[in-house]
Amino acid sequence: MDELLAYRDRFPILQDCVYLINHSLAAMPAAAEARLLEYARMWRERGIRAWGEGWWELPVTVGDQIGRIIGAPPGSTVMHQNVTVAEEIVLSCFRATGARNRIVYEEANFPSVRYLYQAKPDLEVVAVENDEAITAAIDERTLLVPISHVLFKNAEIQDVVPIIERAHEAGAHVVLDCYQSAGVVPFDVTALDVDFAVGGSVKWLCGGPGAGWLYVRPDLAERLEPTFVGWQGHARPFAFEPELEYAAGARRFLTGTPNVPALYAATAGYDVIEEVGVERIRERSLALTQLLIDELDAAGLELGSPREPARRGGTVLVRTPDAAGVHRELGERGIICDFRPDAGVRIGPHFYNSEDELRQTVAQLADIVESGAYARHRDAVARF
Ligand SMILES: Cc1ncc(COP(=O)(O)O)c(C=O)c1O
Repeated sequence: MDELLAYRDRFPILQDCVYLINHSLAAMPAAAEARLLEYARMWRERGIRAWGEGWWELPVTVGDQIGRIIGAPPGSTVMHQNVTVAEEIVLSCFRATGARNRIVYEEANFPSVRYLYQAKPDLEVVAVENDEAITAAIDERTLLVPISHVLFKNAEIQDVVPIIERAHEAGAHVVLDCYQSAGVVPFDVTALDVDFAVGGSVKWLCGGPGAGWLYVRPDLAERLEPTFVGWQGHARPFAFEPELEYAAGARRFLTGTPNVPALYAATAGYDVIEEVGVERIRERSLALTQLLIDELDAAGLELGSPREPARRGGTVLVRTPDAAGVHRELGERGIICDFRPDAGVRIGPHFYNSEDELRQTVAQLADIVESGAYARHRDAVARF
């Protein structure tokens, strides 16, 4: 696995600090900067012609690259700004009429995914304790089941197969939020037979902000009619017809003008992920998270994320007194990670992190907890 350390050169920030926040904003590949310059060159030199030379198609061509990473066939994944928008588009395909108006999810779902459904007066939201309870809560009144593949707070991998099976049995659809799994935990949306999958690129995919994505199962994409739609979702956008006629396949889930610079930047990250391969990344990730767990155990620090490899995503959660202060002190010592209120300090190594960086991090953590150095940062609050 040492050969993966050779990739460190491609991520400039790794030279300046111990970068362990890949579950939030992964390191920027140097190639992303070159892509952004290429975008600027196109804008400067090609002007309006750039739309016909690739820009207009980016939500689909970049979506196809995501598709290769998540096991989706070409033409079934399209790019959006973020998960919130992608989930709203999914919801807009359904009318919550009569008895089928329930949304079933677990409490640990990412907040914006919760807020989106809570804000709709026609929906009845049922929030349950864990993934097992989701399966039990799905019934004939359930419309959608928006779930996280890997939970954001403690990186626990959810048992999604029984949820998808139960939802289909009850006539409900599943929206799988893969933000915390794509690029670090292998999965295949086709094999899972999931209805929708959503995610973004800032985390393990190393693609930066503004490049969210939506996969729609191909048979559903032909049938569903999103009411949140724009001219890119029309069968003939450049005919500027007054009446809506949906484009075929996943294109109908598009809205308006795409976020071109973000899509230029994002592919630099996807290229590296494809080159290394998610299976190899997972193998490395399991080795690194195991090392972290062993070091934390040896230092007498409390683990807040799962131990079992099958349930372990890419992040390790450490429970400490005053996680906000500990996080701030780690930052001052050149170790970049984060914390979540009521959870603990999150440490998310990617394939390019070294064993030495992890040993150093746990040694510093132990010192900060033991010495009480965190108490210097009483005003620390959760951000990013
Ligand atoms: C599981 C999960 N879903 C969604 C998001 C973000 O959603 P959005 O793209 O709407 O900002 C995050 C983290 O930022 C996340 O961890």
